[in-house]
Amino acid sequence: MKDLAGARPEPAFEITVDGRPVSVLPGQTVGAALHAAGIRSWRTTRFGGRPRGLFCGIGVCFDCLVSVNGSPEQRACLLVARAGDEVVTS
Ligand code: FES
Repeated sequence: MKDLAGARPEPAFEITVDGRPVSVLPGQTVGAALHAAGIRSWRTTRFGGRPRGLFCGIGVCFDCLVSVNGSPEQRACLLVARAGDEVVTS
């Protein structure tokens, strides 16, 4: 435990979300980065237009879909963010 107290995480980096810079800590998923930035919902349901974002957080519900670097329908809760990723919400 004592060794963990001195851990020094790698520096944060940035991704863009709909063109807006968002800071990410190494190892965070895209969904975690959005949540940490205060973005709680980023898409709506097909019927009723209800807001959706992270729900299960483990890749089961598909509520967190985003496009990343041009690849549509990526589960934000599973995808580890990389420096310079371009995330587009719907
Ligand atoms: S939050 Fe459920 S699949 Fe991502």
